[in-house]
Amino acid sequence: MKTIIFATTNAGKVREVEEIIAHSDLRIISLKEAGIVADVEENGTTFEENAQIKARAIRELIAEKPEYRDAVVLADDSGLVIDYLGGEPGIYSARYLGEDTPYDYKNKVILQRLEGVSDEQRSARFVCAMAAALPDGELLSVTGVMEGRIAHEIKGENGFGYDPIFYMPEFGMTSAQLDPEQKNAVSHRGKALRLMKERLDENISCQ
Ligand code: IMP
Repeated sequence: MKTIIFATTNAGKVREVEEIIAHSDLRIISLKEAGIVADVEENGTTFEENAQIKARAIRELIAEKPEYRDAVVLADDSGLVIDYLGGEPGIYSARYLGEDTPYDYKNKVILQRLEGVSDEQRSARFVCAMAAALPDGELLSVTGVMEGRIAHEIKGENGFGYDPIFYMPEFGMTSAQLDPEQKNAVSHRGKALRLMKERLDENISCQ
């Protein structure tokens, strides 16, 4: 049985990862479950760099724990990229306007910054980079993207964060109006996870 330690404190993310990549030979545990306390500084300049920094740092930490010597460490970094705002909030999505600021406020500010801007210029995407640090030092890296545009008003109760202002033309609604299964099927995180599952299946079976 292979163990994957997912470098997140977000229980919702652990559940999503479990739903997509867990199988009988693979168990997913959170940092907390692994008894690891770590506050890794995400000082990269891209989503990919940040995910890799996190995965590598936690892998180094657990190398000292004999029970996790063979574990894989998985880490992700995600955010919203708005073209009209030069890519903001991007890698600063969680910290944009303050880490503890309610998303209702953050979303209103973004709508104000795009007031009067045409639909064509409101293009945006959610990006999720995922990195896996393997026990032999190898690093796997994948990225998933979900395209859309910034809506004109806040809509929807599902999802979290910037979902209520992320309009998806193919569904005619925001990602906060999709049900969770619909969102998982097309989301940046869902895509990155499925790509990572393929890479892990190839690599783990070779070890
Ligand atoms: P992370 O946990 O450091 O990857 O932070 C990602 C941040 O990007 C979150 O706090 C949200 O602000 C935003 N974000 C990432 N994925 C989503 C999503 O699926 N919906 C809404 N906001 C998202």
